[in-house]
Amino acid sequence: MTLSFPVTPAANPRSSQERDEILANPGFGTNFTDHMVVATWSADEGWHDGKVVEYGPITLMPSAAVLHYAQEIFEGLKAYRHEDGSVWSFRPEANAQRLNRSASRLALPQMDEEDFVGSLRALVEVDKDWVPSASGGGEKSLYLRPFMYASEAFLGVRPAREVTYSVIASPAGAYFAGGLKPVTLWLSTQYARAGRGGTGAAKCGGNYASSLAPQLEGIEQGCDQVVFLDASTQTYIEELGGMNLFFVMKDGRIITPQLTGSILEGVTRASILELSKELGLDPREEQIEIEQWKDGVRSGEIQEIFACGTAAVVTPVGELKWDGGSAPSTAGEGGGEVTKSIRERLLDIQYGRAEDIHGWMTRLV
Ligand code: COI
Repeated sequence: MTLSFPVTPAANPRSSQERDEILANPGFGTNFTDHMVVATWSADEGWHDGKVVEYGPITLMPSAAVLHYAQEIFEGLKAYRHEDGSVWSFRPEANAQRLNRSASRLALPQMDEEDFVGSLRALVEVDKDWVPSASGGGEKSLYLRPFMYASEAFLGVRPAREVTYSVIASPAGAYFAGGLKPVTLWLSTQYARAGRGGTGAAKCGGNYASSLAPQLEGIEQGCDQVVFLDASTQTYIEELGGMNLFFVMKDGRIITPQLTGSILEGVTRASILELSKELGLDPREEQIEIEQWKDGVRSGEIQEIFACGTAAVVTPVGELKWDGGSAPSTAGEGGGEVTKSIRERLLDIQYGRAEDIHGWMTRLV
């Protein structure tokens, strides 16, 4: 571990009453805790000056490279409070490894796994009262958002020689306000999310920015999210932009699109591939044609479809719409049985209600 994170306590923390009001109904991504982590990297000194400071505005020169060339990456993971009051995160080392893969693709510096986990621990330690209580059910947690960006003030196009890393934390309830209500998807045929050799496998802001125009198109069509196909042939299903997809087949196979370099390697996706074996299913990573979706839901070959990610956990997928047609939902009111059991299994591990036989949980506080 090369970084330490000394704490300067916030001068104006929220009162416990304000905090309790937020935690009673946290929503997603709108409220933030009292502190944040900051660390700096320079080409000369490497990582240094780690600290925990009051959550607040950051100062950047208008010429900071990130504002012009989007040299930026991020992660998303959650801190869960267990029944005994302790606070845990789910596979943070997998997020650290993905951060470093994203960093390689965006020409940003590597960060030691220990420093990454240390930064989460430092923030959750000081803001532990912001981790919602496990009681009362639901899926409340503290969403952690580590991110790294080119803070050097320089307009030449080259990798920045000064980079900032930060972690902020946001109390979170369900990502979709409708809870387990199936999401309706719009099939984007005009836009692609990522192409061969591009940044699709990296968790970088640019991928999410490019998903917004298709997202608007989907919303205009009455849909919640967008399905992206491979950019070269517009044949194979890739992902939703913020979530991976799974198809539960009649014969017990559970298939997710295989990683091609343009799909984000979700930690939830990888965990479901493991968990589904324990549920007696036959997990596969394969190319799936969009025509298989359209035909499969009609013939009964595809029994359930769900989306997954850290923020939304496991969410049933309903109807698919495209310009000129639609394929019916297989999800019923609140998703199929397999979708529900995978979701429960995952949440039980994350909230400490089931034995962590995989060693996936790391105690933060
Ligand atoms: C996540 O599931 O953590 C994501 O990154 C999706 C979205 C909130 C960006």
